[in-house]
Amino acid sequence: MPRTIRKIAINTGGGDAPGLNAVLRSVTLSAIERGIEVWGIKHGYRGLLEDEPGGLVRLDRDAVRGIMHLGGTILGTANRGDPFHYPTHEGDKIVPKDRADELVERFHREGFDALVAVGGDGSMRIANALLERGLPLVVGVPKTIDNDVYGTELTFGFDTAVSIATEAIDRLHSTTEAHERVMVVEVMGRNTGWIALRSGIAGGADAILIPEVPFSYEPIVEKVLQREARGRRFSIIVAAEGACPKGGDVTVRETGDAFRRVAVLGGVAERVAKEIGARTGKETRSMVLGHLQRGGGPTTFDRLLALRFGAGAVRFLMQGCESGMVALRCHRVELIPLSETAGRTKTVDLDGDTVTTAREMGICFGDEPPGHFAKEGTAAS
Ligand code: F6P
Repeated sequence: MPRTIRKIAINTGGGDAPGLNAVLRSVTLSAIERGIEVWGIKHGYRGLLEDEPGGLVRLDRDAVRGIMHLGGTILGTANRGDPFHYPTHEGDKIVPKDRADELVERFHREGFDALVAVGGDGSMRIANALLERGLPLVVGVPKTIDNDVYGTELTFGFDTAVSIATEAIDRLHSTTEAHERVMVVEVMGRNTGWIALRSGIAGGADAILIPEVPFSYEPIVEKVLQREARGRRFSIIVAAEGACPKGGDVTVRETGDAFRRVAVLGGVAERVAKEIGARTGKETRSMVLGHLQRGGGPTTFDRLLALRFGAGAVRFLMQGCESGMVALRCHRVELIPLSETAGRTKTVDLDGDTVTTAREMGICFGDEPPGHFAKEGTAAS
């Protein structure tokens, strides 16, 4: 029997990413074109769980006018709003409570036929679990600057973050060279090195440290000293926040808690800078790019990807799809099962062309000593 979609809800969850407002616009406009009503849920799922005025907002043409190029999200978002561990007042305490059944019940009461859940890996896991609790239909839209959502080649927000990080590395060159220092720049990415890898290569870093390659200090020191010997008396190291030394641990800024169960990473750049300074005798500095990477509007690429994902979500709903997540595969927007992505992480492919390019250019990953390819050259000649 063909399904009728009359009214859909949309939310944005987890850390924001440039492009969220573009998704809201394309979902809204393409739904309205088909006669479907769209409602936004404020702050993740809060608008459904807390009966606050304005928790659900009607998205019409006016509501999404002029927002496509803006950063953030007009709906707001939440990192501590998992409905299965929802922060709930109990006496004078706030405790995590499973409020998924209540959420599903409200969703039905409001007459929604489907949910478009815009979020990262955590949001896809929650969306999948809500389906099991009785939500009728969910289409996920993958966003995150980290680019770590499994099943899609790219997430929107990533291109913007890489551009911002690359520009920062470009700028750091002149001051680092002027002072003949070693600069360690920390970029985001959680437990993957996508941002570090791409911005590091594009920005001309001398070493790139990513979680996928546990690092040792010796090769990095060797790289710095080799440059020194060539008259390049400065070096730039890009470290993903999740990078960790061989046999060591990631550097944690804040541990997880009952509401947000993942730790907030941060501090690895300072750690690396101190060690490299001590081992090379060079003056070192560290800097953390932090939320600058998420702030402001999306690049044209991200804006377009976000618009395509949003329109794709509505198109698949109208075509009578099962629940799933829109994904970019071989330049096309497709729908993949939520179960294929939930609970998985897309890490950097170490045999891929990008890592190989970096290694061939002599960029150090902290695992092999510089000059690794010289052996290959000798063998070939
Ligand atoms: O997932 C996006 C992200 O920006 C990560 O790169 C980073 O580790 C985390 O969010 C930071 O979270 P918060 O905004 O809560 O500090």
